[in-house]
Amino acid sequence: MATTKEYDLGEFTFPRGWFMVADSATVTREPRSIHFFGQDLALYRGESGRAVLLDAYCPHMRTNIACETTSFTALDGRVEGDCIRCPYHGWRFGPDGKCNEIPYSTQPIPRAAKLRAWPVAEALGAVFAWHDAEGGEPEWEAPTLPEWDEAGWVRWVYDDLGTLNTHPQEIVDNIVDCSHLGPLHGQKPILFFENEFRGHLAIQRQGGSHRTLIGPGGKYPLLVTDTTYHGPGILVAKLTGMQDAIMFIAHTPTDDGVVHVWHAALVKAPSGAAQPTEQDVAAARAYQAAMLTAFSQDFGIWGNKKPCLHGMYVSGDGPFQKERQWYRQFYNPRVDREKYVKPVEGIHRVVDIPGAPECRPGETLGQAAARVNGG
Ligand code: FES
Ligand SMILES: [Fe+2]
Repeated sequence: MATTKEYDLGEFTFPRGWFMVADSATVTREPRSIHFFGQDLALYRGESGRAVLLDAYCPHMRTNIACETTSFTALDGRVEGDCIRCPYHGWRFGPDGKCNEIPYSTQPIPRAAKLRAWPVAEALGAVFAWHDAEGGEPEWEAPTLPEWDEAGWVRWVYDDLGTLNTHPQEIVDNIVDCSHLGPLHGQKPILFFENEFRGHLAIQRQGGSHRTLIGPGGKYPLLVTDTTYHGPGILVAKLTGMQDAIMFIAHTPTDDGVVHVWHAALVKAPSGAAQPTEQDVAAARAYQAAMLTAFSQDFGIWGNKKPCLHGMYVSGDGPFQKERQWYRQFYNPRVDREKYVKPVEGIHRVVDIPGAPECRPGETLGQAAARVNGG
């Protein structure tokens, strides 16, 4: 494990962006004490249904407002409306973090009696929080997917993979790591592979065979993936060519050099029915499990490797230096963002892969790949 400083990423220990902090199903009126970005936080669902995320320690005498379960405040239910009451002396805080009642005091509520309230968004069955060392408003929207609400798709149930003692830099490196696809995931041949960096997005487009997901088969059916990092911690991959599916991976720093990881897959019902059948759900769960097997191969590497502070990159490796430069925008003041992004913006194709197709005029990479693959 190495720290942000050792990777020389920038001024801030934790990156700016939207991050998953909980599976929505686990957020209830019973507050949860969670730990991200080196801080203890309190997460609960108000009576209106809204998810609220506050700093955990009460300004009165520093009690963790989400812990303790035997106080009468806790037993009676400490969430009132969208507010939460501290179990020690009963100060009540609104979803904006401001104390709005001190039940025993007649003096005006001190202005400093407040907790930091985090910008929160709820989508895709998850609660996302905006982390920003500068305390600014969100720069972009938390990710959503039209397929989440479309008929004929089986919604995911999250795989909560717990924490991994790996700096997020090592995980984000994966978006450009063309040369691990064969040896680690059995993805051979790779027919095309390119990256694009645009603002807060890092994109990978590639296609080829994949032993874990589509089996050894004699013909090498094609798996095409279109993968995007929406900011530093949320990855969405659209898979076509075999079974239409969308893979989701979120990694959120808990401490410097440690991340919490979730994995999921939205799968198009194989039956084609608007209302997925039981068999569709079973097939979707099986496909998510197969994807998790592929992702576990990366986990097996990350969990045992030394930090890669300076790689010995060779031709045929993906554009790691460009990706690391793109990633630095999130660790530095937002006014300097262009400084990191501009020089690497655009499409970077990893060309010298044996079998990579040349596009004919007007042909997309996917079409060229299908042609070379005999499709
Ligand atoms: S410590 Fe929270 S009300 Fe006293
Ligand atoms: Fe991988």
